[in-house]
Amino acid sequence: MNKELLRNILPAARMIFGKHTKPAIITYQTAENGNAESAIQQVNSRYVKIIDESEEKVLQQLRKAKTDQCEYILFENDGIAAISDSKRGTDQLLYNLFPDPNGQSAQLTNNETIINTRMNDKIVIITGGAQGFGGGIARELFAWGANIVIADLNEEKGMEMAETLNMQGGRNKAVFVKTNVADPVSVASLIDQSVLYFGGLDAIISNAGILRAGGLDEMTPETFDQMTKVNYTGFFYCAKYASQVLKKQHTANPDYYTDIIQINSKSGLKGSNKNFAYAGGKFGGIGLTQSFALELMPYKIKVNAICPGNFFDGPLWSDPENGLFAQYLKTGKVPGAQSIDEVKKHYESQVPAGRGCEVKDVVKAILYAIDQEYETGQAIPVTGGQNMLK
Ligand SMILES: NC(=O)c1ccc[n+]([C@@H]2O[C@H](COP(=O)([O-])OP(=O)(O)OC[C@H]3O[C@@H](n4cnc5c(N)ncnc54)[C@H](O)[C@@H]3O)[C@@H](O)[C@H]2O)c1
Repeated sequence: MNKELLRNILPAARMIFGKHTKPAIITYQTAENGNAESAIQQVNSRYVKIIDESEEKVLQQLRKAKTDQCEYILFENDGIAAISDSKRGTDQLLYNLFPDPNGQSAQLTNNETIINTRMNDKIVIITGGAQGFGGGIARELFAWGANIVIADLNEEKGMEMAETLNMQGGRNKAVFVKTNVADPVSVASLIDQSVLYFGGLDAIISNAGILRAGGLDEMTPETFDQMTKVNYTGFFYCAKYASQVLKKQHTANPDYYTDIIQINSKSGLKGSNKNFAYAGGKFGGIGLTQSFALELMPYKIKVNAICPGNFFDGPLWSDPENGLFAQYLKTGKVPGAQSIDEVKKHYESQVPAGRGCEVKDVVKAILYAIDQEYETGQAIPVTGGQNMLK
């Protein structure tokens, strides 16, 4: 079974094996020749064996297997995929076949806190999910019941985030996939790994971003290129590879809606003095959002951007060493300010809502974008009144 076929089949299978309007979770595991089949026979479970290499024929076989209530898909000589309504369910099914040789439990918990929301058992990739806005979004969506893929360059913080979430032990799971959004091969591999782990995708949140401020005299071509690659081109790579999976799901279930969301910025709506490399990339992100939205709505894939105001409590602003407040205090950017707190108060006073943007504000906008079926191509401001649409 070639990798591409697997990548095409699992998202379609997820829709085929779904119950009512809810797609299934499918987890793939490689297995030694013959091992998986004898293990399934021992536990007396139903399975469908895929021998064919034609996508159409495989899908026909899977449709029939659904009526036979199969719990496993066996890819001969390759591996096995377990089908359930939750990630905990697929882990349990795989554990039944291959118990841990050291006798350890599969870390499966029975913490069945099912919150009845539209995020329950959804599969969401968050780039830059190790810290800052992305980390906060990961925590909140996980608490809403979503399975989370944390895609970040920072291995240490990304693993830590996934482990912390998994310690809460529910039906859903978080996984870290080391990713560089500026590298198309890395983003393609992120999407493949997410499909093997969960079976498909409901939303990708393109959040990873970097900020290197500077006017025309200071900005080097290298820094400009680097920012453009992460903030602008990275969004293209996410949309390109994620949409391939979302389209496969749409073919199998044309009524199902999915999402591509970019975390943009208020700097994507209004120019930013001596910060053009950032603002330019973010403006571009809104052009991509609108254009992807037009191209993908026929597949019921919505594409929206969320434009937060300044996240004063995040590391970008509040890091005591390198945060913007510390830098602005050092360079005297706010006349008369004697402390970090005074610099912060100065910036807060510029927001009609009187405070910085917080993770909870951004998450409300994300939930709105996902919940709404009749809106796409929008740039949703979350700026406490600092930016108002014309
Ligand atoms: N902080 C703000 O005030 C603010 C305001 C509006 C919008 N935003 C936007 O929100 C998003 C997150 O910003 P933040 O302030 O939370 O940033 P942050 O610096 O706190 O976190 C960014 C994360 O992205 C990761 N990352 C950086 N480059 C990457 C790459 N090439 N591939 C994968 N991961 C990478 C980092 O490791 C980090 O974990 C950005 O798109 C930013 O433009 C931030």
